[in-house]
Amino acid sequence: MEEVIKIEGGKLLEGNIKVSGAKNATVALIPACVLATDIVKIVGIPNISDVRSLKEILEYMNVKVTTPSLDSMVIDPREMVNKPLVIDAVSKLRASYYFMGGLLGKYKKVVIRMPGGCNLGPRPIDLHLKGFKALGADIQYQDDNYIISADKLVGTKIYLDIASVGATINIIMAAVYAQGETTIENAAREPEIIDCITLLNEMGADIRGGGTSKITINGVEKLSGCFHEIIPDRIEAGTYLILAAAMAKQVTIENVIPYHLESLISKLIEMGVEIDSQIDKIVVRKSDNCLKKVDIKTMPYPGFATDLQAPLTALLTQAVGNSSVTETIYKERFKHCQQLNKMGANIIITPPSAIVVGPTSLSGTDVWATDLRCGAALVIAALMAKGTTTIHDIYHIDRGYEDIVSKLSDLGANIRREII
Ligand code: EPU
Repeated sequence: MEEVIKIEGGKLLEGNIKVSGAKNATVALIPACVLATDIVKIVGIPNISDVRSLKEILEYMNVKVTTPSLDSMVIDPREMVNKPLVIDAVSKLRASYYFMGGLLGKYKKVVIRMPGGCNLGPRPIDLHLKGFKALGADIQYQDDNYIISADKLVGTKIYLDIASVGATINIIMAAVYAQGETTIENAAREPEIIDCITLLNEMGADIRGGGTSKITINGVEKLSGCFHEIIPDRIEAGTYLILAAAMAKQVTIENVIPYHLESLISKLIEMGVEIDSQIDKIVVRKSDNCLKKVDIKTMPYPGFATDLQAPLTALLTQAVGNSSVTETIYKERFKHCQQLNKMGANIIITPPSAIVVGPTSLSGTDVWATDLRCGAALVIAALMAKGTTTIHDIYHIDRGYEDIVSKLSDLGANIRREII
């Protein structure tokens, strides 16, 4: 028995859709709470399976976690025990690697399994480890576990060869209690990093430069508890923008920071989509004219997000002409193209690029969500397709999109979960 999502395509969508808190901020903020010495309350938490895995990891370490409402979490690390993290929950998501920085920073020791996450081709963590080493840590790898420890952590200058989101956040966490000043050069600038720095500063950390490529951390003695609200999810919002561009009579996307989506919005406008961007919402209408082809190249923020490459590729199947899609972050992130081709798309895959030949009409069939954003692309394609699409392996979608089925049903989509 397996749970699938079934979608009957072709229905125009209308209404309002509210974006949840940012997954990729949340999955860093929750592990960051191990650095606190008192209670942290976070609001705006998305109800996704990655959050449930992180909660399980915290509870395994005797951290008290309560959820006063669906979108909030109260984390009490006062009786926490730094146990080796060798449980299955660690392998269910990529972001469990943030416990490396968090536990190393607080206890100067962490034992942890290899993290999991979407299979997007090679995803090394050498830069995270290089940063820990520079701060004074010793790193061993035994029986599939990392053992990272230090007598003391001392601030230093770290240059990242690649502006990695994960390495930037992990090094910040490891450095908040280190002696003296740490600087990270060529730091990543994603909004999720700023959100994580905001949380740590609310706890009492001394971190400057978030959102720029030079971040400075001055070590402190103690971090207390705090209250924090998570930023809206720019990738979820972007997914709904694309979906609305494909099928909306008129859809209003609420709880958005349009500034975080400028690279996508400018591409959609170039394609001929009607977009009205307001302070915290965006109104989208499907164009009456044919969509125009565009070329995209994924880049670190503020460039075009790799996480929106698959969803936009689904829309490009309806644009007139040959659109080129170049992936510079994960050069093998094209599995969704094979699935889209099964539905009738004509995508020529030559990594690190793909050519989307459009427009082609799409038809419903059985497809597999090979990773989270592939799942989002298939939902968009299925809404545009003739007939019924059955999406398998939907646990990938549930890792990152809160209530996608009910949110889209509310817009009038013909979408349901089914056990087959
Ligand atoms: N990289 C290295 N060495 C490292 C770290 C990264 O070579 O030590 C490379 C990666 O292989 C990749 C590039 O650097 O080619 C950028 O990777 P980054 O570290 O920035 O990615 P990440 O932190 O592992 C986060 C998101 C991803 C998102 C990327 C890029 C989380 C939990 N994940 O991953 O989100 O694609 O940043 O923006 O925050 C998703 O949400 O679907 C997703 C995959």
